Amino acid sequence: ETQLKGKDFITLQEWTKDEIDTLLDVSFDLKRKFAMGEPTPYLRDKTAFLMFFEQSTRTRNSMEAGLAQLGGHANFLDTSTMQVSHGEVAKDTGIILGSYGHAIACRNCVWEIGNKYLRSLANHAKVPVMNLQCDLYHPMQGIADLMTIKEKKKETRNLKVSIIWAYATSHKKPISVPLTQALLFPRYGMDVTLAYPEGYEMPDWVIEQARENAEKHNGTFKITHDQDEAYRDADIVIPKNWGSWVTNQDDAVIDDLLESNKHWKCTEERMALADDDVMYMHALPADRGNEVEDSVIDGEHSIVFTEAENRLHTAKAVMTLTMGGK
Ligand code: CP
Repeated sequence: ETQLKGKDFITLQEWTKDEIDTLLDVSFDLKRKFAMGEPTPYLRDKTAFLMFFEQSTRTRNSMEAGLAQLGGHANFLDTSTMQVSHGEVAKDTGIILGSYGHAIACRNCVWEIGNKYLRSLANHAKVPVMNLQCDLYHPMQGIADLMTIKEKKKETRNLKVSIIWAYATSHKKPISVPLTQALLFPRYGMDVTLAYPEGYEMPDWVIEQARENAEKHNGTFKITHDQDEAYRDADIVIPKNWGSWVTNQDDAVIDDLLESNKHWKCTEERMALADDDVMYMHALPADRGNEVEDSVIDGEHSIVFTEAENRLHTAKAVMTLTMGGK
């Protein structure tokens, strides 16, 4: 029997496949119960603290609505109003919030700081810590993406999944959504292709881990710098512009990146190279017009709103299993 109470949710790489399968089972069950209007008071009188260093639409609201539906309380914390903004360390915040409630969830995407901050919370808090996105991982998005793929395609083995990005941040910065997908999808037997312009590589440890995951679970993993190759015969395409992350760069640097890579765009023409039943996925928010044509994101192959909706059910499953249970 899988026992997940108290387990941190920082990266899916630290969850076994059995544990992730349990998460998916519970997510589907909670989705069905939500559709039926069945009450799900699994976390009555429990509180989770949601610390946000950055903005959010999906993550914040799926957590807040989700915990209300589970009978508990989500306490939203804008970190600019907390003593962390005056230098209080993660250790002290973790110990204290952990003594007030039943979980701490945190979004801190600051490069080379975010994941360390979460680890420090987790090392000191006596309650589970959930990653709402850091500089390395976005497991809440990853599990919702996996749920959506299973829901739509049923069988995940041998699906050709292309994760495509361009004009991201400055070079050599890993990006949490494609990084999470690159590690997770090969564990479900998918044939994963990463496609990006040269110079936008993920760190070697990610590539090594993704290859290892593929070998272990009969998936495949490859890299291309040719967009058309990534789209050709793909069952799923996940193209994303990570320009929104370029918050601390000069405008001129951003403009250069946008200009030199603006052909990295999801178009109807490229979608026509893919399988007839190809699915277009995107974590959202999307940079409509620049990274994707409206006719694609609003078209028949797009499943972005199911993907976003599933954030609710998977967030509820993570909270139910790590905060509730025996
Ligand atoms: N996909 C995602 O994490 O969206 P938000 O930034 O709106 O939470």
